[in-house]
Amino acid sequence: MIFESHAHYDDEDFDADREELLASLAEHGIGTVINIGASLAGSEATLKLSEQYPFIYGAVGVHPSEVGELTEEGIARLRSLCGHEKVVAVGEIGLDYHYPEPAVSVQKEWFERQLALAREVGLPVVIHSREAAKDTLEIMQAHRAGEIGGVVHCFSYTKEMAREYLDMDYYFGIGGVITFKNAKKLKEAVQYIPMDRILLETDSPYLSPEPNRGGRNSSLNLPYVASAVAELKGISYEEVVESTERNARRLFGL
Ligand code: NI
Repeated sequence: MIFESHAHYDDEDFDADREELLASLAEHGIGTVINIGASLAGSEATLKLSEQYPFIYGAVGVHPSEVGELTEEGIARLRSLCGHEKVVAVGEIGLDYHYPEPAVSVQKEWFERQLALAREVGLPVVIHSREAAKDTLEIMQAHRAGEIGGVVHCFSYTKEMAREYLDMDYYFGIGGVITFKNAKKLKEAVQYIPMDRILLETDSPYLSPEPNRGGRNSSLNLPYVASAVAELKGISYEEVVESTERNARRLFGL
């Protein structure tokens, strides 16, 4: 069954129909979901969802745009959440230079602290990197992130950058953007990345694939992503679903 490696079902966009939607995933072929924390509150909400639904697992961490809220107490709180039996990763963490805030120095500091936390607790990382390719890679190499393991979520860089992450044995989260007509660079990267390194993801409620671009995203749209990957790789839809599920289970230890 399809393994959804990155969704935010704690988001308020799902408040109106969360239970109904989550209950319908299995009948649409979605077998497992990793819910991703993007803030301290989001990480707590992720744990609640994972306790409520057997097929949901969690990642806990603070997104680079939210690290302004982090303190020593915040890191201690994340550390304790990491001990929960359904927490399988630290994330999403990283750098996002799209907006001017928080300052680069602040983002870097908390990215490094959360990488160190992942190493300490022995969990892989879910990396968010937007318009920050060089700095993200530098920090990860300096922290020997290959030893920690993880996935670069919503991978949006070049083939050359993919090679750097392949050298660290990382996985690549591929989502709705792969269905966009203008995603030439990403399509080249996906052709280049070996099939045993690719995970399917949505980033719900964001980044809906064609033909639902612009609408609220959910894991129900993953077949569009799997089909696009199958076409680029010249393999069957079923092979994409099977190998991405196998890859995700290997990474998250499930
Ligand atoms: Ni996300």
